[in-house]
Amino acid sequence: MNLPGFPVYRPRRLRSSPALRQLVCETRLSVEQLVLPLFVRSGKKLRRAIDAMPGVFQLSPDEILREAATAHALGVPAILLFGIPDKKNARASGAYAKNGIVQQTVRLLKKELPALLVITDVCLCEYMEHGHCGLVAHGKILNDPSLKLLAQTALSHAEAGADLIAPSDMMDGRVRAIRTALDKNHFTDTPIMSYAAKFASAFYGPFREVAESAPKFGDRRSYQMDAANANEALREVALDIAEGADIIMVKPALAYLDIVQRVKTEFGLPTAAYAVSGEHAMIKAAAANGWIDERAVTLESLLAMRRAGADILITYAAMDVARWLKKD
Ligand code: PBG
Repeated sequence: MNLPGFPVYRPRRLRSSPALRQLVCETRLSVEQLVLPLFVRSGKKLRRAIDAMPGVFQLSPDEILREAATAHALGVPAILLFGIPDKKNARASGAYAKNGIVQQTVRLLKKELPALLVITDVCLCEYMEHGHCGLVAHGKILNDPSLKLLAQTALSHAEAGADLIAPSDMMDGRVRAIRTALDKNHFTDTPIMSYAAKFASAFYGPFREVAESAPKFGDRRSYQMDAANANEALREVALDIAEGADIIMVKPALAYLDIVQRVKTEFGLPTAAYAVSGEHAMIKAAAANGWIDERAVTLESLLAMRRAGADILITYAAMDVARWLKKD
């Protein structure tokens, strides 16, 4: 870059008024880019607060509908739905039950709010008695036998009307298995948003309390990625694209912006960043103590994800952000 240098070039010239700063702003945040995660469990008028995540609730389907309608009215285009079943077992049968909690709720949402995009998280951990994302035998998480259940789960979501399918399990080959099952059943137009580079992260702590999905033994390091690995993240993404992923996700977001940037630069596909539960909880806790400005820190963090290359931002703060952006 050949800048004339001071005093000819003065960077402050373009910062002298709000209008000028807006004019030269390189990265914008808008409500169209937001996805709101929601947690559904059976019941009526149920709105159960979760200690670990202020502002996040376990909601019954009728309450999900209310929450989704509010988000939609604020301009949030999509929700990401997680299910908490009444019963768990060793085959995660609640995950692919035709009338499972997610399937019922998707039908309700698509009937009442057809224009709202409903993305479903496809995973088995919430439905397994041991809390792992695949079938378990002799203390090991089995890959290939789990694929069938994941594909069956994805298909049941598509049949219920899900607009996008988002597998988060990190089993090898699951995107192909899901794409094949969808295509065979005439869901060729249902896109897959894969959690392609999903790291084994301590930032998921609060989520596991909300989703009641903490593993009962061991951890997820044999299937989720090592936080140290960036090149491997690119291989994971390349594989998922080859298997049929339409949108790729990096998760967590803030501590992994280098991955977001490399993924976007290398592949150029629509890229999502998931600001996970621990990221949200840290901001909430610091703000509650008066140590940081919640609104400013939230917006700055999301802007950083956009700057790194994320097109889609999955955030528990989506509704607050939508309100803040409106006022500006
Ligand atoms: C399910 C799943 C998890 C998250 C999204 N899908 C938890 C995990 O992998 O243990 C985490 C989301 C968050 O922390 O907000 N596999």
